[in-house]
Amino acid sequence: MIGTKSVLLLIGLLWVVPAWAQHQQPAPHRGPSDIKQYIEQLEKPEREKDQKPDEVVKALEITDYMTIADIGAGSGYFTRKFVWAVQDKGMVYAVDVEPAMLKYNEDMIEHLHTPYNAKFIVSKPNDPMLPAGAVDLVFICNTYHHLEKRADYLKRVKASLTKKGRVAIIDFYHDDRSGTLGFPKDHLVPQETVVKEMAEAGYTLAKEHTFLPRQYFLEFIVGEKPKAGGE
Ligand SMILES: C[S@@+](CC[C@H](N)C(=O)[O-])C[C@H]1O[C@@H](n2cnc3c(N)ncnc32)[C@H](O)[C@@H]1O
Repeated sequence: MIGTKSVLLLIGLLWVVPAWAQHQQPAPHRGPSDIKQYIEQLEKPEREKDQKPDEVVKALEITDYMTIADIGAGSGYFTRKFVWAVQDKGMVYAVDVEPAMLKYNEDMIEHLHTPYNAKFIVSKPNDPMLPAGAVDLVFICNTYHHLEKRADYLKRVKASLTKKGRVAIIDFYHDDRSGTLGFPKDHLVPQETVVKEMAEAGYTLAKEHTFLPRQYFLEFIVGEKPKAGGE
């Protein structure tokens, strides 16, 4: 016969064990060894050939006093370019869900030995946590396909933009044009889907840059595109 004490013990175990097991599950983000590899991959010198970072920055027509948010900033491959472009006249927000990435990003900016204004935001997966009405240019490179509920996310991004704010999205083509990536292409978001989701979030495609061989590069504005000859 099972006594009351045994039943209570069993109930206790049934409650405690799953709670313990839950804590043993891997953290939702990559651990430090993965992060090291991830950073190496993002920073590899060969990336320059196809990513053309200087041409990207030039195409974005950045001016000194701009505030730029680099969402999914990672190791800072582009953050450093933006910091260099606006120095201490403008402002750069580096936004990422992964604190170790932002730590590396910040350390590398220190090495630029230039005066700058930058903030490093450890964001939530569904919220970039940017200040309202402050950002002239939101830049999202190779990160759009990481976002969940993208239209909702981009609505939050909209609240951070200034009146004439823009959102630039670069991501890999979901077909052969992107070449070998090291992950399945069904994780990627086709360009037409980006345009559709951005429209759902209240944006219009304003410019398409076509000089990147493996990625689309799209610029969006909030609302409708102004008619030619208008304000
Ligand atoms: C492929 S890396 C791109 C890094 C950088 N933009 C570049 O081009 O070098 C994607 C980055 O997005 C970050 N990330 C993933 N999901 C995110 C989210 N929901 N919000 C912000 N950052 C996110 C990852 O931690 C990672 O640093």
